[in-house]
Amino acid sequence: FVLEMCFTITALLCYPVCLQGNPNASPFPSNFLFGTASSSYQFEGAFLSDGKGLNNWDVFTHKPGNIMDGSNGDTAVDHYHLYQEDLDLMQDIGVNSYRFSISWARILPKGRFGSVNKAGIHHYNKLINSLLLKGIQPFVSLTHYDIPQELENRYGAWLSSQVQEGFKYHADICFKYFGDRVKYWTTFNEPNVAVIRGYRSGIYPPSRCSSSFGNCSNGDSVKEPFIAAHNIILSHAAAVDVYRTKYQKQQGEIKHSEMKLRAFKPCFDFLYNFRFLDPIIMGKYPKEMQEILDSNLPSFSNHDQEKLNSTGLDFIGINHYTSFYTKDCMFSVCEQGPGNTKTEGFALRTATKNGVFIGESTALDWLFVHPQGMEKIITYVKERYNNIPMFITENGFCENDKSDSLTEETVNDVNRVEYISGYLVALGAALRKGADIRGYFLWSLLDNFEWTLGFTIRFGLHHVDFSTLKRTPRGSATWYKQFIANHTAEK
Ligand code: NOJ
Repeated sequence: FVLEMCFTITALLCYPVCLQGNPNASPFPSNFLFGTASSSYQFEGAFLSDGKGLNNWDVFTHKPGNIMDGSNGDTAVDHYHLYQEDLDLMQDIGVNSYRFSISWARILPKGRFGSVNKAGIHHYNKLINSLLLKGIQPFVSLTHYDIPQELENRYGAWLSSQVQEGFKYHADICFKYFGDRVKYWTTFNEPNVAVIRGYRSGIYPPSRCSSSFGNCSNGDSVKEPFIAAHNIILSHAAAVDVYRTKYQKQQGEIKHSEMKLRAFKPCFDFLYNFRFLDPIIMGKYPKEMQEILDSNLPSFSNHDQEKLNSTGLDFIGINHYTSFYTKDCMFSVCEQGPGNTKTEGFALRTATKNGVFIGESTALDWLFVHPQGMEKIITYVKERYNNIPMFITENGFCENDKSDSLTEETVNDVNRVEYISGYLVALGAALRKGADIRGYFLWSLLDNFEWTLGFTIRFGLHHVDFSTLKRTPRGSATWYKQFIANHTAEK
């Protein structure tokens, strides 16, 4: 613990001072992407504006009791209307990339069963063009947990193989309209979280689980997460296939596609992370997974396997926030979530019971500060997948703050600066050891709608007053600006 403290303090003092005078010391290559990340449901608002259709999160948040503070993303931080202002904030920080997601139901209000919403296309065209004018590369996710509700109603979304065609169509439309300017495409954000929370504990839409796993009894928490994951993997392959066969050749560009990893949890890697990456990269599920799950694990047909082998991915996106000690939890509920004291207590109890304390816990029960975990997960992925290019697609720090009032403490966010600086030092160490990491996206530019926690916690480099939508920079925005300037100086 003492060592860890030293590490963090050294990092804080060293970065601004040491690197200014000696830019060659920077481990970040000159084409490294520094950015911030967001997602459509958490940022955009404009709920049913300009022809957008209902999505699964619209329906879920409107049901009483699902969101901690009773809020929803109808307005979120109104990024749909205020994006120019937000792009100015990004430009001021000096980022050269912006990761955002396209709202599927804004492009295809009824999924495959209706027409393309031209107003939605127009919106993202304006956003992409404005970014490029500012020299900011769009880094686009095709979906970030959201799916048109129509697909849920018609065939049960991820539980049906029909969704593969639905996702492929959405991807095709996005490549067709935006692919001439977007160089970085990602397919799914944290599919692990989507399936565990949507089909195992049931705390995210479509709220399915067995009664022994959560508060619902409308699903099968053992089988369904694996069926949903299977369809996500094949949907990824279908989208990459359409790009490679229809668009990549024409445009002569390299198509980037990714899946996301989450935290470093050695004892249930396959449950959380590699159950997606292994099939996509190696064409099959991890061996342990096949042994343990047996007939509960769907299998790939020969045709599926050929598709997986021929598509693969060009880079891996890693969302990394924290680390846990875990034990014997392959199939016990290790998932963290509001209202689930049994599981929330898991990381805390395990850490203290064993007399091991890995760092300070933050407002979120799952967010332990442990920067070395960043280097470990990168090294692990590097070794398992032969140093495939990686992007840190999310990393960030939150504080519990339900009030909109601006205080010295909320603006002067020293804890966030300490967190980010520690993780960037760890990222630099991984780069120095040869990991092929191409970018880092901070979550997030603004405070925003944090899923089932609503507006009760804040992740932003900018404070947002959720009633007036006024954005105010925090100390961390200035710190990130300085960090980027130090690391992108002429080399
Ligand atoms: C990862 C998710 O992708 C994002 O939507 C969420 O807000 C952050 N984690 C913070 O919890």
